[in-house]
Amino acid sequence: MGKEEKIPPVPETANEEHAGDVLHAETPLPEDEADGSLRPRRLAEFLGQAAMKENLAVFIGAAKERRESLDHLFLIGPPGLGKTTLAQVVARELEVDFKVTSAPALDKPKDLAGILTAVTEKTVFFIDEIHRLKPAIEEMLYIAMEDYELDWIIGQGPSARAIRIPIPPFTLVGATTKAGNVSSPLISRFGITCRFSFYEQRDMEAIIRRSAGILQVPIETAAAARLASSSRGTPRVANRLIRRMRDFSQARREPAITLAVVEDGLRRLEIDRLGLEKYDRDILSIIIERYRGGPVGAETLAISLGETVDTLEDYYEPYLIQSGLLQRTARGRMVTPLAYRHLNIPHPEEERREDPRLLV
Ligand SMILES: Nc1ncnc2c1ncn2[C@@H]1O[C@H](COP(=O)(O)OP(=O)(O)O)[C@@H](O)[C@H]1O
Ligand SMILES: [Mg+2]
Repeated sequence: MGKEEKIPPVPETANEEHAGDVLHAETPLPEDEADGSLRPRRLAEFLGQAAMKENLAVFIGAAKERRESLDHLFLIGPPGLGKTTLAQVVARELEVDFKVTSAPALDKPKDLAGILTAVTEKTVFFIDEIHRLKPAIEEMLYIAMEDYELDWIIGQGPSARAIRIPIPPFTLVGATTKAGNVSSPLISRFGITCRFSFYEQRDMEAIIRRSAGILQVPIETAAAARLASSSRGTPRVANRLIRRMRDFSQARREPAITLAVVEDGLRRLEIDRLGLEKYDRDILSIIIERYRGGPVGAETLAISLGETVDTLEDYYEPYLIQSGLLQRTARGRMVTPLAYRHLNIPHPEEERREDPRLLV
């Protein structure tokens, strides 16, 4: 560790009792608990996202060489693409401590102060869902990120005064599914931004082979390819499907995950060749049947589906858009002609074109 820094004790109001509520570093990460063994630990195991990874490797190497903390890192992307995993990988590559929390768990400024006054130097501090920070906490974070200090008010009423408490230099890693909801002052304080995109077929195949290897279940090449194309470009989905396919192959007394196991398994799970599940198809068919293909507003659509707008926007829409089935327009959501074809529903205009009676 570098120079000894004198850190004043945390003011009484920011005691450990509360810090303990928001620090989950010792407990397993909430999501993918069963997935621990599949989570990549080093950058070399983190497959895909090549350009992003290459840059990160440079920044990590440079920070280590200078014995400085890495610049604050902003991770943007849909769920399941590896944001939490990457934050942990970065800490491990930097050989520093890792602390994790999520914005909704930070209720009061003292929750944040409790964590930041207790971190070791260069700690990677991961805040998930950073678009959900409360304003008072966000403001405290600005100064912490910029100056490695905390603004703290002591006393009350006319005798109240603000003091600045130094904190160890640290790296904030903020992750979000909704970059549009993060304020520009916060965004501007991140020195490095990583935008995750859905993984390509080749990378998905590699991830599936890696996971199958760790789970010690043989998988046929064609089966891996088929699973890869049905996993929505999302490692979390791929890992879930491999586990299910392992169950199906076991039930069929097959020594490996074969193409037949995968095809039958996907049919049973109602996952189609684009990787859409029944719910995704329901979204498309509701837009077609109830709203003539759209446009329909996100709120209206969410109500029709009995879903929150957040879930619709964060979880379902990105892949439907990426697949060219859905469009976000200023007036709302619209399905594309490809969605009609995918669902085998005649497109109203194409139908008219094909019907000779309507040709004048
Ligand atoms: N690049 C990758 N290579 C291999 N596996 C990955 C990769 N990214 C994610 N995974 C797997 O997918 C799971 C979900 O990733 P996670 O980091 O929790 O996603 P997010 O935080 O973006 O929702 C992880 O547990 C991990 O096993
Ligand atoms: Mg996560």
